[in-house]
Amino acid sequence: MTDTPTPKNFAPMGPLQGTIRVPGDKSISHRSLMFGALAVGETRISGLLEGHDVLATADALRAMGATITRHGEGEWSVHGVGVGGLMQPHTALDMGNSGTSTRLLMGLIASHGISATLTGDASLSGRPMGRVTEPLGEMGADFVSSPGVTLPLTVTGCLPAVPVTYRLPVASAQVKSAVLLAGLNTPGITTVIEPVPTRDHTENMLKGFGADLNVDHRDGERIITIRGPAELAPQSITVPGDPSSAAFFMVAALVVEGSDLTIENVGMNSTRAGLVEVLQQMGGNIELLNTREVGGEPVADLRVRHSALQGIEVNPDIAPSMIDEFPILFVAASLAKGVTTTSGLDELRVKESDRLSAMANALSLVGATVKEREDGLIITGTGGKALPGGGPVTTHLDHRIAMSMAVAGLVSTSGVEVDDTRPIGTSFPTFETLLQGAAQ
Ligand code: S3P
Repeated sequence: MTDTPTPKNFAPMGPLQGTIRVPGDKSISHRSLMFGALAVGETRISGLLEGHDVLATADALRAMGATITRHGEGEWSVHGVGVGGLMQPHTALDMGNSGTSTRLLMGLIASHGISATLTGDASLSGRPMGRVTEPLGEMGADFVSSPGVTLPLTVTGCLPAVPVTYRLPVASAQVKSAVLLAGLNTPGITTVIEPVPTRDHTENMLKGFGADLNVDHRDGERIITIRGPAELAPQSITVPGDPSSAAFFMVAALVVEGSDLTIENVGMNSTRAGLVEVLQQMGGNIELLNTREVGGEPVADLRVRHSALQGIEVNPDIAPSMIDEFPILFVAASLAKGVTTTSGLDELRVKESDRLSAMANALSLVGATVKEREDGLIITGTGGKALPGGGPVTTHLDHRIAMSMAVAGLVSTSGVEVDDTRPIGTSFPTFETLLQGAAQ
């Protein structure tokens, strides 16, 4: 990322039409590299997301001994060191903006006989890491962190680590994954109890790599067990398109008059697809075409047509399956008819930014009617009328705030000025090019 912010005005554009493809899924891309790095032999990956977050994971794994090579766009290979084989890095690992890299790698390091210092940008350095140091500390790892259990942080792994049974106190796939990844090199059975289901890519992919991992259901909870030490066999992985990136184009096509856009190859895992359901409840015309499996994940092409959206009360139970999509849902709500109410979203306050306050401030600045509550936003929409626009809105180094407000600019009178578009490169480097190409 360059040193100076890159502001940009996102002006109204014509209807979005034609067919696009969004880049590979960020969660699956991180995990493909990490699990490949722990398998013995060559893992091939197609469709890897080449955003800054995933590249930070690749660099960190290289620093710990894996050989990772790019062969062409999205085409990568990983020669792993085997579970237990991660080596002592000689410099600090720069995690950039990426919470997933940080928390999952902390899990991996926790059960290896190595120690690493993790650093990050201003956004990541403000995010809570106590949620992973607590269970990983129980397993025997040691941490020296900055005040408030934040980065920079040094983790010293424990060999052999101690298996634990850990009930997740927050609905977090990153915390679940950190414990399971530590369990890979821990002798015995490590158990994670998940009261509220979150994205299940770690479980599915580890099984695919040959780990002895089981998922049971008891009293409405998911009980995940992994037996260590595991042996992982290299895989050939095709990464589906990221539903969290497709989300910006889904909403853009719904709100810009005359749009009829098909987004191909979008991951539709039920732990990720909540936004489609909520937008359909709001009256959004989204058709799932050509449903199939890619790389073991359900995938569909989404045909999205401009629709008159209606405000709704969003059921908080659906939140974990669309946790990254609330910023763009708030934009849809600002242009819908009537009131949209969201609640149960405390977790949004500890993402790349405090997304409740960042979106309440940004949308209010461009003329939307928003009330911020402790755990959600209440938005009264315009009924399809353009927002006044303006800015600059503050993105707080948060890619999803930048892209959401860019979409808001498409249905505004004077455009929306975004203070910094650099963070978009963490998850969706082709966002602006695809947007230009889709608009007629
Ligand atoms: C992710 C889990 C989610 C999500 C993040 C990616 C993952 O975070 O917000 O973008 O790949 O496991 P939490 O586990 O903190 O909810």
